[in-house]
Amino acid sequence: MPLLLSFLVIFITLSCTSSSVDEELDKVIRAHNLKPLEKPTNYNKDKFELGKALFFDRILSGNKDISCSVCHDPRFGTGDCLPLPAGTKGWGECLNRQKDPSRPFIPRNAQDIFFRGHRSFKVLFWDGRVEEKDGLKTPAGSILPDGLESPLSAQALFPITSRDEMRGRRGDTAIDGTINELALIEDEDYRAIWQAIMNRLLSIPEYRDMFKRAYGEREYTISDYANAVALFEEVAFSTPDSPWDRYLKGDKEALSYEAKLGALLFFGKAKCYTCHSGSLFTDQKFHNIGVPQMGPGKDKSGFDYGRYLVTGKDEDKFKFRTPPLRNVAVTGPYFHNGAYNDLKKAILHHLNPEYYLRNYDPYENGIPPELANTLKNDEETINEILKTLDIQPVQLEDYEIDYIVEFLKSLTSPEVYELDKYIPDRVPSGLPALSRF
Ligand code: HEC
Ligand code: HEC
Repeated sequence: MPLLLSFLVIFITLSCTSSSVDEELDKVIRAHNLKPLEKPTNYNKDKFELGKALFFDRILSGNKDISCSVCHDPRFGTGDCLPLPAGTKGWGECLNRQKDPSRPFIPRNAQDIFFRGHRSFKVLFWDGRVEEKDGLKTPAGSILPDGLESPLSAQALFPITSRDEMRGRRGDTAIDGTINELALIEDEDYRAIWQAIMNRLLSIPEYRDMFKRAYGEREYTISDYANAVALFEEVAFSTPDSPWDRYLKGDKEALSYEAKLGALLFFGKAKCYTCHSGSLFTDQKFHNIGVPQMGPGKDKSGFDYGRYLVTGKDEDKFKFRTPPLRNVAVTGPYFHNGAYNDLKKAILHHLNPEYYLRNYDPYENGIPPELANTLKNDEETINEILKTLDIQPVQLEDYEIDYIVEFLKSLTSPEVYELDKYIPDRVPSGLPALSRF
C-alpha cells in the first residue's frame, strides 16, 4: 500500500472512537462466547503439595538428574527457553542448558503447560496422542491404569517412560552412583516402569507420608502419582487476571487501544480464530501451517509427521495440534520444533506459509548450529509438506500485525512473573529442586 494511503488508513482507524471499538469487540466476545479463566481455589491441599514435590523432584528420572520442572520451568514461562530440549544427562538451565553430546535433541519443543488442567482441555501433545474422546486414548492402549482423573493426569505417565527425556539408557549410572534400574526395563513394559517408579517413591518415608496425607492409608498406584502432578499443574499454571481476562470482566481500560484493534483483527479478517478458537485459543484440532522440518525426527525416517503418527492417515501428515495462546508472549520459542524465537515472526509465518517455508533461515531465529544442520529444506520435502498445508495466506499491513502482537501480549497474566513462588526449597528425595548441581 502506498505510504500516503497507509497513513490515511491509520488515521481512519485511530479516529474511530474508543467506545465504538469496545462495542465491536463486545459483539465479537458474545459471538465467540469468550470467557475469563480462573485459578481453581477448592482442592485437596495435601494432594497439591505431593504433586508439587513430584513435579520438582529429579527422583522421577532414571539418572536422578532431571525433573518435569527442568523442561517446564516456572521461571521461564513453563518452558525451557530452547527450540528443542536437552533431556537426561543435560545440564544448565534456560539458554545455558546444554545437551550431553552422546544424546539426541528431544524431537519436539517443550510446550508451555498453562491451563492444561482446564476441564475443556482434552487433547494433549503436539500430535494429540493423549486425548479424551470416548474415554482416555494414550500410547499405553489397554494397559492404561485405572483411576486417572483427566487427560492431564494421563499425560504425566509418559515423560517418565521416555528414555531420552527422563528414563535414560541401559548401562547409565545415576548421578548418585547407583545403577539406573528404570533404564533396564523394556520400552513396551509401561507397567513395570510405573511400578519401579512407585517403588522408588515409596521407599522414601517422606513420600509415604505425603501419599498418606493426600489419599489416606491404602495401596498407592501410579495413578495417584499422576493425579497429584496434574492437580499441581492445574493450580499453579492456571494464571488469572491477564489484561484480556480483566477486559472480559468489564474493565474497558484493561486493554490498550492497539490491543483492542488487534483483537478485532484476530477475530476478524486475520482469521486467527478459525483455529485459535474459544477461551483457550485452540480448536484442539490438527493443522499443517507449513512449519519447516528440523530436528532429529520422531522415528527412523528423521521426519516428524505430527498427527499422522497417531492416525496413520496420509492427510494428517505434518499436522500439529493448534497450540493455545494464553501467556504466549512468554512461551517462545514457537511451533512444534521451536523454529521461531520471536512472536511477530511466528505470526508472519502464518500469513504467507509457503514463502516462509521455502525461505526459512535457522540462524536468523536463534537455532544452534547442530540443530540448524538438521533442517530439511530440499525441494522434495517442501513439496511433501505443501501437499497437506491447510492454512490460507492472509494479507495484513505491518502495523496490523503489530496490533495483533499487542493483543497477544494482553493474554499474559501478571502471575507468570512470580511463578518461582512454587519452587520448593527442598524435595523429599534430597536431590536439588531446581538449578544446576
Ligand atoms: C526433557 C524435557 C521434558 C521433561 C523432563 C518433561 N517434559 Fe513435558 N514436554 C516436553 C516436550 C518436548 C513436550 C511436547 C512433546 C510432544 O508433544 O510430543 C512436552 C509436553 C508436555 C505436556 C503437554 C502439553 C500440551 O500442550 O499438550 C505436559 C502437560 C507436560 N509435558 C508435562 C510434563 C510433566 C508432568 C513432566 C514430568 C513428569 C514432564 N512434562 C517432563 C518436554 C519435557
Ligand atoms: C489453519 C489454522 C491456523 C490459523 C488460521 C492460525 N494458526 Fe496459529 N498455529 C496453528 C498451528 C497448527 C500452530 C502450530 C504449528 C506447528 O507447530 O507446526 C500455530 C502456532 C501459532 C503460534 C505459536 C504458538 C506456540 O506456542 O508455539 C502463534 C503465536 C500463533 N499460531 C498465532 C496465530 C495468529 C496470530 C493467527 C492469525 C494471524 C494464527 N495463529 C492463525 C494454526 C493456525
